[in-house]
Amino acid sequence: MSAAALIALDRILVILVAVSWGFAGGHLLLSRAAVREGRGAARRAAWWSAALVALALLATAGRLATTVALAGHGWWFAAEKALLALPLLLPPALAAAVLSLPRLLRGHFGPLTLIFPLTSAYAAAAGVVVALGMGYPLSPYLSVVLALAVLGGAPATWSMLTRTGPPGRAWRVAGAVVALSALAWSGLSMWNARLPSSLRLASAGSVDVTALRGPADATRVRRFTLTARPAVIRLASGRGVEALTFDGRSPGPPLRVRQGETVEVRLRSLLPDRGVTLHWHGYHVPNGEDGVPGLTQNAVREGGEFVYRFRADQPGSYWYHTHETPNRALQAGLFGMFTVDPVTPEGFDEPVALHTFGGALTVALADAPPADGLATRTLSPGTPVRLRVANTDNAPHTLGVSGVPYRIAAVDGLPVTGRTLRDERAQLAAGGRYDLVFTMPSRPVLMSAGAAGLLLTPGVGAAPAPSAGPLIDITRYGSGGTEAPRRFDRSYTWVLDRLIALRGGVPRLSHTVNGQVWPRVAPALVKQGEWIRFTVVNRGGEPHPMHPHGHHVLVLSRDGVKAAPIWMDSFDVGPGEVWEVALRAGNPGVWLAHCHELTHAAEGMTLHLAYDGVRSPFALDGHNHPE
Ligand code: C2O
Ligand code: CU
Repeated sequence: MSAAALIALDRILVILVAVSWGFAGGHLLLSRAAVREGRGAARRAAWWSAALVALALLATAGRLATTVALAGHGWWFAAEKALLALPLLLPPALAAAVLSLPRLLRGHFGPLTLIFPLTSAYAAAAGVVVALGMGYPLSPYLSVVLALAVLGGAPATWSMLTRTGPPGRAWRVAGAVVALSALAWSGLSMWNARLPSSLRLASAGSVDVTALRGPADATRVRRFTLTARPAVIRLASGRGVEALTFDGRSPGPPLRVRQGETVEVRLRSLLPDRGVTLHWHGYHVPNGEDGVPGLTQNAVREGGEFVYRFRADQPGSYWYHTHETPNRALQAGLFGMFTVDPVTPEGFDEPVALHTFGGALTVALADAPPADGLATRTLSPGTPVRLRVANTDNAPHTLGVSGVPYRIAAVDGLPVTGRTLRDERAQLAAGGRYDLVFTMPSRPVLMSAGAAGLLLTPGVGAAPAPSAGPLIDITRYGSGGTEAPRRFDRSYTWVLDRLIALRGGVPRLSHTVNGQVWPRVAPALVKQGEWIRFTVVNRGGEPHPMHPHGHHVLVLSRDGVKAAPIWMDSFDVGPGEVWEVALRAGNPGVWLAHCHELTHAAEGMTLHLAYDGVRSPFALDGHNHPE
């Protein structure tokens, strides 16, 4: 079974185990009371209790099996079950099978019959808490608290079962002490998890991010001004959508420059209710130009401005977007395409943005409003075509081309050499880009992404059906031509999960990295020149398109299968998957890294790479919300 299926099965089993032990324990207590008072038939009650205990044992055995199977996919998937949940549950469950069941079948409801199923019920309840609140690694405090609760519950229950009168004073005092300390403990952890009103993430170091800026004295400068303001945009169908825009447009004005030029973009804000920045997604800008509020600058407020300047040395397909409350503001329209040409583009060479406006997936070309439906262009046969498709949404999109064989010539801006695809499709991660290339044939070609698409037609012929071909694995598609280093200077593991965590001091369902939420996730410390290996593990049920700023990573393997290898800046770690990627630390700074499903990023799945010796004067506060 796949890790994703096992994870889903385990979630069901955790509940089944808790419910069945709970019912077994409850039924035993009720039957015991009834039999004692001579109200019930001991035999029948006993059979029912025995059946419930047997069901609970079965569910427990199932959980043991899924845990063993999950451990086979990687220890990260099984550790908290193998080290905590099952060790608490298996001993009382085993005793229930060996000691309680035979007694029960003889109609005995003595303390020895009841104590083990009841203790199993406590352990199963602790198992639910583990499943909801503890991923990988094990949290020591919660482990101790849960272990004490189960280990203390057993003797307390025993004393309750063996005495006849009401509980003695000692037990009442002990109960109160336990309840009070649990309360105090949770209060204290919530207090500790609170965030200060202003938090600096990198306060020590000899280099300030404000010194890591683009060239001030360049000669070939391309100047642009972008003004952020709310506007109603029109989709191709005529439908109006309230949006946040650059210059009244969304996508914003396409920025297209020649490799080697210096880009200077003056960002102005007319947004009344939120700040704005420009982040150059995938571009290796100097850190001070990265547009992350609270790390590399303060968010630009209404009436304010910020000037970005960097050399466009990397050719390829990129995009820009705001990084202040991006989950809302980017989705509402504050983004645009950024293309750097190594030579004069030939043929039909266009950025294509896939973005969902008002619930409709649209295809936006540079010169037209977003098409909610099919965008159409007429091209003469023989025209070289390069579609620079960018996924600016939160979810992955599946791209297909029908009517012509094609190649993916670049992934996340960087060239790849791969085979020709015939009716095969490729999934594009949130934030990612594929350059699709082909020569225009003498019949229509359809590039499709779900219900949206771009129809290129020579003027005659019927549109082909959207491709429904098999999916390729982009990590094995083509080579970026780089070999992975033999040894790494450091290694980090990011275990991604969906847990109840203390976000800003309040327990909330969150998206976690190593059990923590932003800004409490430990940063990855790196030194200039190092090669770092990241192992990224997805324990959840949704894909996580991970995006480190300022760098591409070299994908080494996906689920243990060696990659081509390939460079990416947004890589989609699917449910139950394990990716190994390598990062070369060549761009000093304090760099955000996060899931580009931006609701996940906002709910905790954000962290940063901290270069040794770099400090930032900026702070997370009431105005800066990079997540
Ligand atoms: Cu498009 Cu922080 O990224
Ligand atoms: Cu995610």
